[in-house]
Amino acid sequence: MVTATIRIQRFNPDVDKKPHIGEFHLEPDQDTTILDALQMSKSQQDGSVTFRRSCRHAICGSCAMNVNGSNMLVCNKPLAAVLDKNRRVTIRPLPYLPIIKDLVVDRSSFWEQYQRVKPWLIPPGDLPEKEFRVSPEEVEALNNAETCIMCGACYSACQVIGMTKQYIGPHALLKAFLRVVDPRDTEPGERLANLSGSDGVYRCHTIFNCIDACPKDLNPTQAIETLRKLAQKRRALDDARNERQKYIEEPVSTG
Ligand code: FES
Repeated sequence: MVTATIRIQRFNPDVDKKPHIGEFHLEPDQDTTILDALQMSKSQQDGSVTFRRSCRHAICGSCAMNVNGSNMLVCNKPLAAVLDKNRRVTIRPLPYLPIIKDLVVDRSSFWEQYQRVKPWLIPPGDLPEKEFRVSPEEVEALNNAETCIMCGACYSACQVIGMTKQYIGPHALLKAFLRVVDPRDTEPGERLANLSGSDGVYRCHTIFNCIDACPKDLNPTQAIETLRKLAQKRRALDDARNERQKYIEEPVSTG
């Protein structure tokens, strides 16, 4: 078997002043995933190597990391696909987030922003007797956004997040898009108003990093662009309503 070098960023806040790289030499086979390589490093060489993982099937989103500079899930990625010509790979925690230990980051800001967009459905008071009926066209408009697994790969690839944690972020805006476009939701207007502040849809710089990072091939940038257009239309409607109100209060003579 041929040896591979797994370079893992290490950081123990109890003893380290700053992160450093630790090297592990393994003999993987062709089916070894990046997550397998991390497990082997931990179980065979250093039990203190720390990382998150749960489902091992690209469903739970807990194993998102930065591999050779790109964010990805490590549980479904073959190690062979990321080894360079010297059979080395470098694994770091997700960028722009505080490191708790080794490859584990603090995702508090990620979840706080998610909470901020009220990601749950707000249904009408009079629920249908049976199920909600949603047409195939309406499902199509959701653009697969419901398959997001909240792994954080897009969030921590976003350079705006690198500048400010006040930005709602691509993950939460994608979820907001899902709710705004969902025909069962009753508050699309309020949602759009909440997304139109300085930390919302207009903060996106359209850099597309979120698209490259998404392991489910989703397109948060397009969702944000759609929200922008809808928010502008809503603002135009509000302006028209305000103008109408002004006219009612102070009618301009047309005579
Ligand atoms: S371990 Fe669940 S997505 Fe990778």
